[in-house]
Amino acid sequence: MPSKEKTKNTDAAKSGSPLADRAAGTKKNDAALDPQAVTKPADLKTLATAVLRTNDHGTYTIPAANLYPHQWLWDSCFIAIGLRHLDPMRACQELRSLVRGQWANGMLPNMIFSDASEYNHDRNYWRSWINPNAPEGVATSGITQPPMFAEAVWQVGQVLPPTERRTWFREMFPVIVDYHSWLYDERDPHDEGLILLVHPWETGLDNTPPWMAELHEHNMPAWIKLVKTLRLDNIIGSLRRDHHYIPPGQRLSTIEILSLFDAQRRLRRKRYDTYSIIKRGLFSIEDLTFNSILLRANERLRQIADYLRRQIPDDLEANMALTPAALEKLWDEQTKQYYSRDFSTHRLLLQPSIAALMPLYAGVISPERAAQLVRGLENDKKFGAVFPVPSVPLDSPYFNPQLYWQGPSWVNTNWLIIDGLKRYGFDDHAAALIETTLDMVGRSGFAEYFDPVTGEPLGARDFSWTAALTIDLLKQSKGRKAD
Ligand code: GLC
Repeated sequence: MPSKEKTKNTDAAKSGSPLADRAAGTKKNDAALDPQAVTKPADLKTLATAVLRTNDHGTYTIPAANLYPHQWLWDSCFIAIGLRHLDPMRACQELRSLVRGQWANGMLPNMIFSDASEYNHDRNYWRSWINPNAPEGVATSGITQPPMFAEAVWQVGQVLPPTERRTWFREMFPVIVDYHSWLYDERDPHDEGLILLVHPWETGLDNTPPWMAELHEHNMPAWIKLVKTLRLDNIIGSLRRDHHYIPPGQRLSTIEILSLFDAQRRLRRKRYDTYSIIKRGLFSIEDLTFNSILLRANERLRQIADYLRRQIPDDLEANMALTPAALEKLWDEQTKQYYSRDFSTHRLLLQPSIAALMPLYAGVISPERAAQLVRGLENDKKFGAVFPVPSVPLDSPYFNPQLYWQGPSWVNTNWLIIDGLKRYGFDDHAAALIETTLDMVGRSGFAEYFDPVTGEPLGARDFSWTAALTIDLLKQSKGRKAD
């Protein structure tokens, strides 16, 4: 396993991007930074803690005020990974709050709605209660999000004393088994080892190019095309809630938002039943980021099972065993990259995105392929931005430094890449990316995302996973310990 390799991998540490230079120790990208503007580690930790406090709703943490008033699945996983350094019991609670939303079939929904009366509209829009598997008395969405849950459970477990850790793992083991079983049973209907997603919101990378290309080229509903032709989207756009808080150029276009809501309504019409959705839904894509995260989550599940000396059910174990080889089907020899794939035609969706780097985090690819991916990270025309890692390569026609998942750098994907770099022995690259990430946050605050060229803060401010993962990265940083 690459993770066991302890030799330092300097293969790809040549020159090119600021990250590569920093990893090779030849040059630093400090030129791009005003050292005065960078917050000191101790202050950064205090400020990050304050953000998490502000967004704390008692038993769970919202991603940010105003725009994100509910609990989100992978947000709370990242939040727990940071919170464990402040208050392990509260980190456990963060994840327990996700379990209250688990469906009887095992699904963990991407959103659990606040029960405040002002959010009636959101709850009614999803109407999770139309599916008999939805939990009683808790309103949720009807779709999932990247399966970070097992990783979060594992990471929180690491800071608990042995007895509490055992109790914690014992409590969470069946939750993970049920969730992963649901993924394979419902979302891998041909037993191919890859999970299919039915909505862009399930990717967590809402407007990522491969999905948006599918939408614009194949899946745009006729009525939305008409809205576009008649330019009604300008009028509809003026009513958007997110535009009250975030400049329109930093969010999805109104045509895309309408399409995502249309796709959601189709799922609701099918009562979120995967079998009927696959036949009639707008999207069915085997998403690269999601499946890479699942591979790692399966490994965490095995580690938890070993710790407890428990058996993973045979059918789940058999399904999990298919995924490493299945990931290799997503490799394209010509461009030397992995991609997402259309579920029914098996066509690779060749628009590059941050997903290309996620197999590092999965940890099951060969060291040669890992080195190939790292070259992309170093290349100043690809992912080697001044403030890495951009959510699409700099030379992509989709690249826009301010547009959500089509250019900006995000701290959660950086965290995943840092972990992947360490697994493959690229310790200098990992250390360099930790420092550039902390620099970026240190000068721009805990933004939702950042301009990879200027480091400017974008999207929501005081964003919880940015704060939580900053706390974790400060722990990982060799140079700047916060305490
Ligand atoms: C957006 C992001 C998604 C995140 C959610 C809440 O939808 O794309 O990844 O989970 O906001 O922060």
